[in-house]
Amino acid sequence: MADAAKPILLSGIQPSGQLCLGNYLGAIKNWVGLQDSHDSIFLVVDMHALTVKQNPAELRKRCLSFVAQYIACGIDPKKSTIVIQSHVPQHSELMWILSSITSMGELNRMTQFKDKSKKHAANINAGLFTYPILMAADILLYQADLVPVGADQKQHLELSRDLAHRFNTQYSDTFTIPEPYIPKSGARVMSLQDPEKKMSKSDENLNNLITLLDSPDVARKKVKRAVTDSGSEIKLDDSRPGISNLLQIYSLISGNSIASIETEFEGKMYSDFKEVLGNSIAEFLTPIQHEYNRVIQDKSYLESVLNQGAENAYYRARKTLTKVYRKVGFISPAR
Ligand code: TRP
Repeated sequence: MADAAKPILLSGIQPSGQLCLGNYLGAIKNWVGLQDSHDSIFLVVDMHALTVKQNPAELRKRCLSFVAQYIACGIDPKKSTIVIQSHVPQHSELMWILSSITSMGELNRMTQFKDKSKKHAANINAGLFTYPILMAADILLYQADLVPVGADQKQHLELSRDLAHRFNTQYSDTFTIPEPYIPKSGARVMSLQDPEKKMSKSDENLNNLITLLDSPDVARKKVKRAVTDSGSEIKLDDSRPGISNLLQIYSLISGNSIASIETEFEGKMYSDFKEVLGNSIAEFLTPIQHEYNRVIQDKSYLESVLNQGAENAYYRARKTLTKVYRKVGFISPAR
């Protein structure tokens, strides 16, 4: 698992809402492709999720479900480390240290904080504000070289790089400066009803997203209902975000190029295309759900994956944190 020769890759998803096609095509699919060439750590960031109100029983269930979905999508616990953030106490410990070298101004500039403050105006808590420092801790704790993130997280990653650099300059070389990894295929899956915005797993309107656990029938129905633009051609076109989004999804799922799909559906109707797309999504989801159902029922297997993940992560995290504590001038506790 921990292979010194391989670059370290780290990413994570918040256990809120339901994992959707956007998460798979934009993130998890790439993780699966990178896990052989990288020493990979995949987090379920339950501590981040607390920045918006959660139902405790549901959060607990969702964390396990996300882990099972990671595995069902092809993350192999034998190759990669799967960790629940709260299982490794060093995340919050490093966060505290990093808090003291982060300025209020830097956090104030974070667009996600501004957006979330608007969306959750009744609950603008300090955690929402310091969220990016915890994310930096997630990354720097494991000396990650590469961090696959969506465009909306680039600013947070930039802060992580700045903090690593600042700490290294102020004390001495300690942290690897992480590089963002922006997927080549430009996989940005958009909402089905509102294709100007990203498909989000936390969207309240479930017609906007196809979740990885939607039944094939539900998935087909959602595709049928997806907004398309006026016009009838099945062509990639910036001025027609609806059909363009569906084309991108089909291309990513089938592996066929956009150009070949355009040729395939020349002269055909939106409804023809949607039927093919709906079927291909259903076909794609079926084996994932099959594997998911197997894994989620095998509690002892899930437990062993999480124990192993936590143990491996804890060992690595402690190594970094011990170094950090020494550098900032903390005395090691007497034993
Ligand atoms: N903030 C990220 C998001 O909302 C999730 C996240 C937390 C993350 N820690 C991370 C992503 C570390 C990459 C690396 O998408």
